[in-house]
Amino acid sequence: MDLVVERDYPTLSQAAADLVADLLTVKPDARLVVATGETPLGLYRNLADRKGPGEVDTSRLRVFQLDEYLGLTVDDSRSLYRWMREAFLEPLAIPDHQVTRLPGDAASPSEACREYDQAIERAGGYDLAILGLGPNGHLGFNEPPSDADAPTRVVTLTPESVRSNARYWGGEDRVPRQALTAGMKHLLAARHILLLVSGQGKREILARTLEGPMTPEVPASFLQRAPRVTMIADRDAMAAPPLSVADEA
Ligand code: PGA
Repeated sequence: MDLVVERDYPTLSQAAADLVADLLTVKPDARLVVATGETPLGLYRNLADRKGPGEVDTSRLRVFQLDEYLGLTVDDSRSLYRWMREAFLEPLAIPDHQVTRLPGDAASPSEACREYDQAIERAGGYDLAILGLGPNGHLGFNEPPSDADAPTRVVTLTPESVRSNARYWGGEDRVPRQALTAGMKHLLAARHILLLVSGQGKREILARTLEGPMTPEVPASFLQRAPRVTMIADRDAMAAPPLSVADEA
């Protein structure tokens, strides 16, 4: 895993945007799976700023949705598709037909999850997974416990995720209790994973992700054995330099 420690959130976002822009230069038809949540918003804004002057070409990009609440239509104000559309797709002028949804409103959500996995397999896997780190160690909505080979599926959110997401939706009682999530298996197999971690609130889970045992109880800990991971954290998220960085200094 490559660890990059940035001074603060703006420089983290800039470094992440550099990495994504470089990928789009060499592979304009890349397949990206894209996180919602607060952490990647600076990256998305930064990319959108480069889109204006034509520094990034998104015309051939394929986007896969990372997670969605069960039962919500795309137009529901709480839908993660809507979040992704406002934060990522529209600023980067990516039309819906370039996106593979995780449809929370499907007649058979389990079947929709199987179809999603087939779609990503047909596409040859993700080139880049842009991920945040849940306070409980989840990736997407792969809630603990999640095995490293877990498929895309319907999950029940842990009380911790419900609490954490309540801030977006104006109270815990408004947060749906179930969700669809892209599975661990394909996420971990992505050609490149970009994990973004910001703020003191992530310190403890970040330490467990990097240095704890690999366990389904901390799904992000399986990143330790993923083929290629770049983790960009700000100083607030790092309790102390990890041993590998300290050794190099
Ligand atoms: P955050 O969410 O980026 O809003 O902290 C991360 C997550 O829960 O996966």
